[in-house]
Amino acid sequence: MALRCLITAGPTREFLDPVRFLSNPSTGKMGFALAEAAREAGMTVDLVAGPVSLPEPEGVMLYPVVTAEEMFHQVDGLFGPCDLFLSVAAVSDWRPKVRLDRKVRREAGVPALELEPCPDILRAMVARRRPGQVVVGFAAETGDVEAGGRAKLASKGVDFLAANDVSGPSGAFGADTNRLVLLGADGSRRVLGPDTKAAVARALIAAVAPSR
Ligand code: C5P
Repeated sequence: MALRCLITAGPTREFLDPVRFLSNPSTGKMGFALAEAAREAGMTVDLVAGPVSLPEPEGVMLYPVVTAEEMFHQVDGLFGPCDLFLSVAAVSDWRPKVRLDRKVRREAGVPALELEPCPDILRAMVARRRPGQVVVGFAAETGDVEAGGRAKLASKGVDFLAANDVSGPSGAFGADTNRLVLLGADGSRRVLGPDTKAAVARALIAAVAPSR
């Protein structure tokens, strides 16, 4: 039987009112490239994606979501049977505590914005993983990318952490090329790229795919 790969991709949107939200510049390109690469490698692929404007990859089950809460529920339902989980989405860390039903009027003055944490999808899946499931986290880092990646590898409890430098104008968000430092829980370290996201995705799938 084919290996099952579950991937999250893109940003999430956390609404303050019907016309305003918190989000980030993720375009979903890296997650979608990984979905294609996993399918090319013969895996069955479930792709849970926040709002992106990318064509639907062929031969992949696409589950569109908008908020972190929706992404959490979709992933929660798909995680059980997966062999490989790639948590690529740039999930919002916080959301407005209250989501108003009606647009806040400008005339009402500057609103006080109280935030609360969004569910940490990756952490929740790591907590319920079963032996044999491989879990890969991603980290958008600025500054010391590797040190940040190592710290996140340990704190998230993943098998691999792909650290991404998103600082500066050539940051990974939206670009067609990427360079990742793939850190393993066993102490391994591999640099993937710089290359097209498609090539980096193929190299990453080859590096992390569980063997049967
Ligand atoms: O802690 P940080 O947000 O930098 O961690 C990034 C990793 O955690 C990524 O793999 C991302 O997909 C995942 N994440 C998540 N749910 C969140 C925040 C991050 O799954 N609410």
